[in-house]
Amino acid sequence: MINIVSRSGSVAPYLKSTSQAVASQLKPLAAPVPLPAEKRVHQPLPATLTSYSLSKSLPTGNVSITSGPAVTTQIRYAHTDIQIPDFSAYRRKDVKDSNVRSRESADTRKAFTYMLVGGGAVASAYAAKTVVGEFVSSMSASADVLALAKIEVKLSDIPEGKSVTFKWRGKPLFIRHRTSSEIETERSVDLASLRDPQHDNDRVQKPEWLILIGVCTHLGCVPIANAGDFGGYYCPCHGSHYDASGRIRKGPAPLNLEVPFYEFPDDSTLIVG
Ligand code: FES
Repeated sequence: MINIVSRSGSVAPYLKSTSQAVASQLKPLAAPVPLPAEKRVHQPLPATLTSYSLSKSLPTGNVSITSGPAVTTQIRYAHTDIQIPDFSAYRRKDVKDSNVRSRESADTRKAFTYMLVGGGAVASAYAAKTVVGEFVSSMSASADVLALAKIEVKLSDIPEGKSVTFKWRGKPLFIRHRTSSEIETERSVDLASLRDPQHDNDRVQKPEWLILIGVCTHLGCVPIANAGDFGGYYCPCHGSHYDASGRIRKGPAPLNLEVPFYEFPDDSTLIVG
């Protein structure tokens, strides 16, 4: 900060001018020095003027600072050690020139803004897709439930003429190893005599293996294997008789026993489900 105060002698009118460039509370670095009389500035006012404009009397060009006993002169240097950082390397080329209106570089900046918004939209869409995918997949069946959806049976453990019951998806599953005489008997049945006509060939993939869901089609009881009038299955709840192909032959049940989806990966293995 530079503070200049000068005052004329008793002959001429007083002239006092003060200029402050920077406000600061720092102590002056240079102590006041008495001003020799010959160096004092005298600026008389014209007699015709009742008011005086300092703009005409203020010094222009090179200014020298003087001081005297009645003059307060302070020269302060406020934080001259602070270096203003140069951010030119970080500024866009379009806005480096302070003489160019920012509106003229709007197109370039618009492109940058559009690119930023577009990139954000893509990232948001990808994040939303991930969240939705995770949410939907969390509602699907877990791995242990899916493992129970299929059942694998070793066929060599089931002797011929026997019917074995497994539990599959909460229901009884009948696997019957039929004898050749059972196969011949079921194949020769007249379809016209059946309540739910279905040929034996349409109910088995391999003639010796009969795969059924052991739920009576009447009211859902579990039939008994190797029982009933037809040597197949018998439901004791209301007396339904099924043959060795799982077809309803007698009693209140309206339909044949259901055949689930199954396959034979090899000759000794059965997978149901
Ligand atoms: Fe099987 Fe009624 S539930 S006969």
